[in-house]
Amino acid sequence: MGLTVITFDVVSSVFANRDCRLLLGDARGVLRTLVDDCVDCTVTSPPYYSGRRHVGDTIHEIGSEKTLEEYVDALASVGRELYRVTRPTGSYWLNLDDKCERKEWLGIPWRVAFAMREIGWKIRSEVIWHKPDHVPNAAKDRLTPAHELLFHFVKSKDAYYDMDAIRKPPSPPIWGTNGVVKAPGGSVPTDVWTIQMEDSNFPENPYAVFPEALVELPIRATCPRGGTVLDPFVGSGTTAVVALRLGRKAVGIDASADCLAFTKKRILEFSGQPATPRQAPFNRAVKVSHGRMR
Ligand SMILES: C[S@@+](CC[C@H](N)C(=O)[O-])C[C@H]1O[C@@H](n2cnc3c(N)ncnc32)[C@H](O)[C@@H]1O
Repeated sequence: MGLTVITFDVVSSVFANRDCRLLLGDARGVLRTLVDDCVDCTVTSPPYYSGRRHVGDTIHEIGSEKTLEEYVDALASVGRELYRVTRPTGSYWLNLDDKCERKEWLGIPWRVAFAMREIGWKIRSEVIWHKPDHVPNAAKDRLTPAHELLFHFVKSKDAYYDMDAIRKPPSPPIWGTNGVVKAPGGSVPTDVWTIQMEDSNFPENPYAVFPEALVELPIRATCPRGGTVLDPFVGSGTTAVVALRLGRKAVGIDASADCLAFTKKRILEFSGQPATPRQAPFNRAVKVSHGRMR
């Protein structure tokens, strides 16, 4: 299947019901059509910076910019609109990978994070997504990359945060000297998450698909039930599907009509499926490290 990316000024609704909207177009243009303060939480993974197009001669595919500076600017344009449409108590979770050119890491995630700070976003957490099933590396002079970053940005220091929704029950329980369980509500998760990549259920898609576990904790913690979760690069629809499953509303944007057609099908299939229990915020493919690795 080829992916069709449409041009900047075309925005159309591919799907809409009470809880979910899918909008087709360039994220920068579509976001401008949303009103201020309508989103509680954004969770997204933009296309990585590759300097090339995955999809033919279309002109607004983010990631295909000729220079890194243009790529950062493109993500800053999205970040600026996200700031406007996010409620004052809202959050923005951004997953980005780095790129190595001529044996040198470009530092892309942090460059983008600093661009977000310029806009007004505050960096609340920097999560290391450790990928245990990383790609083997035959290099003789550098380590095998096995992680990506996930930034949590907030608009204000009083951002909404439901820690009880993400506490990790100790297993086995940790008993204090007085015979009382320490941290009975469970411990606060660390900022190192070990999550396996899921096999793509959309093999024709040239982009990486989010593991559901990666978006579940952000949504539980930073979007109240009934609130709205946005993904401006929704791709195969992972963020939207998890949001709906957790009792939130979802707005998904993508420049690819084919991706949105797949997402629509996935949403219709998943609708009505109950949320997984609070005690298991991560699915079975996930192990969570408790200690900091840095
Ligand atoms: C890394 S993928 C997102 C994958 C998604 N997290 C998932 O679980 O499937 C990036 C997506 O951005 C879309 N995209 C590329 N340029 C875009 C643009 N200018 N506006 C909106 N979407 C764009 C691509 O079509 C692709 O689906």
